[in-house]
Amino acid sequence: MSTTVRGAVASEADRAAFRAGPVDEQSRARLAESGLDYRRTTVDGDDFAPWLQSVARGFQDGERTAEHVAAARARSGYRRLTGVYDPAAPVSEAPVATIASWLGELTVPGHAAVPACAISAVTVAPTHRRRGIARAMLEGELRAAADAGIPVAMLTVSESTLYGRYGFAPAAASASWRIETRRATWIGPRPDGRVDFIARETLRELAPGLHERVRLSAAGEIDVPGSHWDGFAGTTPTAEKAGDKRAIQYTDATGEVRGLALYTVKENHDDFTKATVRVVYLLADGDDAYAALWRFLLELDLVAEAHADELSVDEPLRWMIADQRAATVTVRDHQYVRILDVPAALEVRRFGAPGILALDVSDALGHAAGRYLLEVDADGAGRVRAAEGDLPAGAVEVSLGIEELSAVYLGGVSLATLAAAGRVRSEDPSAAARVLAWHRAPRLSIWY
Ligand SMILES: CC(C)(COP(=O)(O)OP(=O)(O)OC[C@H]1O[C@@H](n2cnc3c(N)ncnc32)[C@H](O)[C@@H]1OP(=O)(O)O)[C@@H](O)C(=O)NCCC(=O)NCCS
Repeated sequence: MSTTVRGAVASEADRAAFRAGPVDEQSRARLAESGLDYRRTTVDGDDFAPWLQSVARGFQDGERTAEHVAAARARSGYRRLTGVYDPAAPVSEAPVATIASWLGELTVPGHAAVPACAISAVTVAPTHRRRGIARAMLEGELRAAADAGIPVAMLTVSESTLYGRYGFAPAAASASWRIETRRATWIGPRPDGRVDFIARETLRELAPGLHERVRLSAAGEIDVPGSHWDGFAGTTPTAEKAGDKRAIQYTDATGEVRGLALYTVKENHDDFTKATVRVVYLLADGDDAYAALWRFLLELDLVAEAHADELSVDEPLRWMIADQRAATVTVRDHQYVRILDVPAALEVRRFGAPGILALDVSDALGHAAGRYLLEVDADGAGRVRAAEGDLPAGAVEVSLGIEELSAVYLGGVSLATLAAAGRVRSEDPSAAARVLAWHRAPRLSIWY
């Protein structure tokens, strides 16, 4: 089913204000005590290139060329960039720590989105590690987001152990598939529309609009920054091996483009009938587009294996192949979420069943701590108020940390599972789980 976004929830004015807002004063003062300067970096200024070089070095990448810097500058306008500078360092214009963030939108259960602070490019130079700089930056950006009234923060991670201490939880897992294509055997639908090759540039033009039409269908997805589409399509001058990417579209019987996919094929030099297709990105507006694109990819000649990452943990694809054991599926944490404002975050989403929950939320950073009463009506809409005095009849009490509430926010894990894991306390975890559940697993099809 396709959807049209019902008006942006993060306005351009709000995005610009957050981008231009100051660094958090508490973290600035804390870092200043160690002689470090915590300040904003501008995309247009001379400080952008050293900032970018520090990010590359932080992720153990090579030095960026002038061309890379120019391309990154052109693509970074949407981000709020911050650096930590050490005036005593020999190359004092290069920050010893970096962080980027922006105001975006996160899809939540029920075809809705919540304004969310996306965080990225977190690095601390090996010369300055383990002195609390990352903590100062993370806490600082979370306070800045909370001060701006943003109810949720989100990030994808290279290291999964870093962010729980700040209240982030893995809220949407991702699945990586390795499929033996000949063994899989397509048994799914064979839609009437057509699949055609298109130029990568055409895909780059079509993808943002198509993504806007579908992104509210899956909790966990975000509004994709424009630069990501260039990355997928390889349409920047600095893109490497862009010519290896093949672009296809699915057009329905009325002639409308309803799906796009990008893939590469890697030869097997020992056996030319056993190449591997890697699905770079697949975007489907509706079940027909989904079936047609996957069938095309799984039935490619000279290909024996298909690889695809950042899929949902409940892909319909599993039920479109005759032999499910042809697919090896690896699941891991992907989209991390941190609720900052409990009423604002919960009231945006829909819930799985009516009910009343008394949520006793702890939060080491203070943003979300409190006792809340969540009342969900027959339509799955929730109202949240402070839980004071006697609880209404039938209310189920739940004690949990903000990490656990963030983990269940998108419906990616059952509250009953967290209770069984000793992460949540409740007199009736099953009843609470039914309220907080959602019928489709959340997903996020990109990294950011
Ligand atoms: C990971 C990184 C940002 C940590 O920076 P840092 O300034 O050394 O971290 P801090 O000193 O502020 O430590 C903050 C907390 O994280 C913990 N921590 C730091 N690095 C960690 C790691 N690699 N694994 C697990 N825990 C880590 C610290 O023990 C500390 O815990 P505490 O505050 O609860 O006691 C830094 O090492 C780095 O840039 N690494 C390479 C890039 C990277 O991995 N970025 C993260 C992308 S998701």
